[in-house]
Amino acid sequence: MTRPTFLVTTPLPDPGMRMLEAAGEVVVPERALVADELGAACSTGNHDVVVAQLTDVFDEATLAAAAVRGISNYAVGYDNVDVAAATRRGILVCNTPGVLTAATADLAMLLILATARRCVEADAYLRSGQFRGWQPELLLGSDVTGATLGLVGFGRIARATAERALGFGMTVRYTARREVPDDELGPLAGRVRRVEFDELVRTSDFLSLHVPLTDDTHHLIDADALRAMKPTAYLINTSRGPIVDERALVDALRDGQIAGAGLDVYEQEPEVADGLAELPNATLLPHVGSATRSVRSTMARLCAANAIAMARGEMPEHPVNPEARLSSGTGHRARG
Ligand code: GLV
Ligand code: GLV
Repeated sequence: MTRPTFLVTTPLPDPGMRMLEAAGEVVVPERALVADELGAACSTGNHDVVVAQLTDVFDEATLAAAAVRGISNYAVGYDNVDVAAATRRGILVCNTPGVLTAATADLAMLLILATARRCVEADAYLRSGQFRGWQPELLLGSDVTGATLGLVGFGRIARATAERALGFGMTVRYTARREVPDDELGPLAGRVRRVEFDELVRTSDFLSLHVPLTDDTHHLIDADALRAMKPTAYLINTSRGPIVDERALVDALRDGQIAGAGLDVYEQEPEVADGLAELPNATLLPHVGSATRSVRSTMARLCAANAIAMARGEMPEHPVNPEARLSSGTGHRARG
């Protein structure tokens, strides 16, 4: 059997590259590929599998011309890939679920605490030499204990966030298509309640987003939703930027429609909406939800293992569209 070739758009942390190099030939572009270049690189028939980042966009046109067996995404989210188009072309798509759940839930909790307690403002205050000693009303924030956390979506990361929030004495509610029965809830059984989206938006002190980005969730939090939130409430987003209408959020934060926002993701990364970075009531992180050394290394291992399995014609461990089936790889060149 010929050794497979991997197109790796951005080098993976250890042990990802070592695993890929042991299994086949690894091609890493000298600089990041822009959209057309990615499409061109995927269409040559020279690569069996693409190892991709969430910043690499695989749209219908790119996939229609692609001659690869699979795409191994170095992320749990895969909204950068038009999965339906990939499936039609017999191209498998893989992700890295599970291993970043705790780290991302930690970051959601961090954003809740940091935003409520004005951590970034307080740090800047001290560093700029303004701290003159204890004052009764210095940098007062909001209570987390006793507050209601509303989770939009109730997948792995939302549930891990719920566990943390309960530890902080928060009341936890969620909205999801179906009510999750207690026997599926483990330690959360009897401690969380499902409500309708509108009620969740109206009643939460912290509204935290944990849904994937799809046509249905694009701008789920729009000007109307922001207006429906309590003026004392905070919006937390560790999922995907376009779930929030970011310009409407800037207006809401500026006009005091809501109290604050803690964000790790943005609509047009790496840009942020005009005015957002000037707002003191926003905590802004650069998409670091899964950014711990051990998590990124485990993601690299899963991502490489998925890529190697696809290159060998085996079913990978984490396919997003198993129905695409390796064998039907219609887009892939025949190898001699
Ligand atoms: C990061 O955003 C991921 O989807 O893994
Ligand atoms: C993502 O992994 C989720 O299920 O929340």
